[in-house]
Amino acid sequence: MPSIPPSDRPEPCVLVIFGASGDLTHRKLIPALYELYEQNLLPERCCVVGVSRTPMTDHAFREKVAPSVEKFAAHFDKAKWADFARRVHYHAADASKLDDYDGLSKRIESLADQHGVPRQREGSPNILFYLSVAPELYDPIITCIGAAGMVSEGKRWCVIDKGDVPWQRIIVEKPFGSDLNSAIALNRTLGQVFEEESIYRIDHYLGKELVQNILVMRFGNRIFEPIWSAQHVDHVQVTAAETVGVGSRAANFYDGSGAMRDMIQSHLLQVMALVAMEPPSSYNADALSRERIKLFKSIRPIPAEDAHQHAAFGRYAAADGEPAYTEEKGVDPARKTDTYAAMRVHIDNFRWAGTPFYLRSGKKLARKLTEVVVQFKAPPAWMFRGVAERPPNRIVINIAPDDGVSIRLEAKVPGPKLTIDSVKLDMDYSATFNAKPVEAYGPLLLDAMRGDRMLYKHREEVEGAWTVCQPLLDSTQLRSQIQTYKPNSWGPDNADQLMSADARKWHNPRAAEKR
Ligand code: BG6
Repeated sequence: MPSIPPSDRPEPCVLVIFGASGDLTHRKLIPALYELYEQNLLPERCCVVGVSRTPMTDHAFREKVAPSVEKFAAHFDKAKWADFARRVHYHAADASKLDDYDGLSKRIESLADQHGVPRQREGSPNILFYLSVAPELYDPIITCIGAAGMVSEGKRWCVIDKGDVPWQRIIVEKPFGSDLNSAIALNRTLGQVFEEESIYRIDHYLGKELVQNILVMRFGNRIFEPIWSAQHVDHVQVTAAETVGVGSRAANFYDGSGAMRDMIQSHLLQVMALVAMEPPSSYNADALSRERIKLFKSIRPIPAEDAHQHAAFGRYAAADGEPAYTEEKGVDPARKTDTYAAMRVHIDNFRWAGTPFYLRSGKKLARKLTEVVVQFKAPPAWMFRGVAERPPNRIVINIAPDDGVSIRLEAKVPGPKLTIDSVKLDMDYSATFNAKPVEAYGPLLLDAMRGDRMLYKHREEVEGAWTVCQPLLDSTQLRSQIQTYKPNSWGPDNADQLMSADARKWHNPRAAEKR
């Protein structure tokens, strides 16, 4: 990201991170903030305060996070870090106890004064809260923020001139609820304290360059829109495959969650929405959310009793001395948690009726790969008699790790005899723009400081995605049919059967085959 003039940077603010001792803060948030600082993208007047229960000085906290910044930031410069570290503070508090908020408010105000962040009438400065804590703490923290009077931005209808009022925004990490009802309840709690426009439900997939590029590809070009429908597209696949297992995350998080909740409900349905939605009226947060919400509402509900016909669950077996999922520390095998999930989605609207979307995600699969495959139909007639029919066109949007877009076409092989073979038009994103996509957290944090919600999710999107997945999560039959799969494979047989029942196949690229 290029640096921007101070006048274009976000307004001065205090960033309050709840969960300062957590993994996300160390591995992602502080390194991302440091990177923004290094690139002169942060407001000149701003500071960060990490909040956790363990008593610690600012100095001790800085020392604790420094090694992660060195390890995870794209570049590390000792002197720059020393500069930035002066803006990093720590406050010990139990964020679930209202009694601790008086001290926190005072600390925020004094840090605002120290770093020149303006406050209105000696009151609150602009504050960006970040919930990077265990999900069961979301509710108490949001309630305490409200009860402590830390949100001075009035409800929209009673604010006369919003320019006078400092803003307070909140970024909420996933998991956003563990099912539809808990997501609705969390949205309700948030809505009692913050305006919808001040709530930033983060999905780091939306910050990925190639995910953002989906809209530019579709709507910044004329050639795709006429073919982007059930008339020409046979089906679409969205895959997020990982080679790692769940490791130490099993006990605290994963075993109660699983791939359907962890990946499909959140990231993959969002990516699918970008591929499938109608053109928004303009390129802004509200217009984009409106279209994504409409898309979720067009998804055909799956009755829980039919769930096993539309989805497949798997969990990885042991291999090469590594434990099976069921042997990982903290796993209760009886829960039958899915480390792999696949599902078929029908979108009942004019554009997509008849074209299924298939989503899948799993741990310990053959490759680390996040991609969208748009598989086109065959030409209406094959006119090259005597030449065997060739596979139909395909667009692969490779989100990670080999970011780019490729289109498979058929071409005449040079020579006197008519021979046809597949060729690829291949756009390598990093090479074309001579830039590696940056870690998504930095740009997303910057957007929240600027008040840009374009890459964040609206309440109805989150609830819409849960509505789609809930019958699958509720199906005891689907869970009882969970299969084991070999690590380093492409998942369980039942997922292949989901495709073969429709006379289709997953796109499983070999390691050497890029796009
Ligand atoms: C997170 C999930 O949201 O995304 C993890 O909780 C998963 O389980 C991760 O590993 C994958 O992200 P990425 O960017 O590596 O595809």
